[in-house]
Amino acid sequence: MTTLAHLSDLHLGHAPGVERRLGLVVDAARSADVVLVTGDLTEGGRDDELAVFRACCAPLGDRLVVLPGNHDRCGDDVGSRLMDGARVDVVRRPGCTIVRIDSTAPHNKVFWLSHGRLCERVLAQVEAALSQAPSDELVVVALHHHLVPLPAEGFWEHVSELLFLPNHTELGLGRELLKVVRGRADLVLHGHRHVPRQFVIDAEGARPLRVYNAGSTTGLGAFRTFHFDGPKLMQAPQWTHVVPGPRPGWHVQHVAPLALTLA
Ligand SMILES: [Fe+2]
Ligand SMILES: [Fe+2]
Repeated sequence: MTTLAHLSDLHLGHAPGVERRLGLVVDAARSADVVLVTGDLTEGGRDDELAVFRACCAPLGDRLVVLPGNHDRCGDDVGSRLMDGARVDVVRRPGCTIVRIDSTAPHNKVFWLSHGRLCERVLAQVEAALSQAPSDELVVVALHHHLVPLPAEGFWEHVSELLFLPNHTELGLGRELLKVVRGRADLVLHGHRHVPRQFVIDAEGARPLRVYNAGSTTGLGAFRTFHFDGPKLMQAPQWTHVVPGPRPGWHVQHVAPLALTLA
């Protein structure tokens, strides 16, 4: 059995106490075989914030797998270094193959232009990477931004929605990406939205595709762990709580994934 802990949206530098929360999360996730962080490691994309992240996560060693979020593209643009400039690459860890996608873009330098971007070339790269993935282990596609519409969160996203601005919207090619991934991977793991969500495509099929948004790990004070044996998930993912979430309504959801249909 292999375990994968999914963290996201840490926003180190956002407020006092975030670093302490991350320390508690790292302690709780130490037994996982893989710890995946799907972006927004930092609040301001600054070198000093990334240094704090690296120090906090040092105990995880090479079990740690990261990718950039929009906040990491601000300031010193630490996000552009997290995947060595690649838009798509493959990370192998015992029992699992992770296809990482950088869904950020240069416009994320302006913090409120937070939406992501994909292009046909990225989809082709993902398809090529998945075609090489072993059939006897878990295949994960990981990125920062959400692929289907999700409810707006917070004042600025609601304003953006009213003004038809792009920054609250899902990835423009999100559904196209899911069509590429369907039947070729088992999990899509992402963040960006800070309230956790979960969907499943082809729930009754031979290879269901489960899509999980971690939410903000430091905001929630909680993270999910997935247990799998070969390509098979052994049980519903488990939440680990390290501290109570700071906001009413920021709760984790112990519910079954919603069925998602791709037109
Ligand atoms: Fe975030
Ligand atoms: Fe984000």
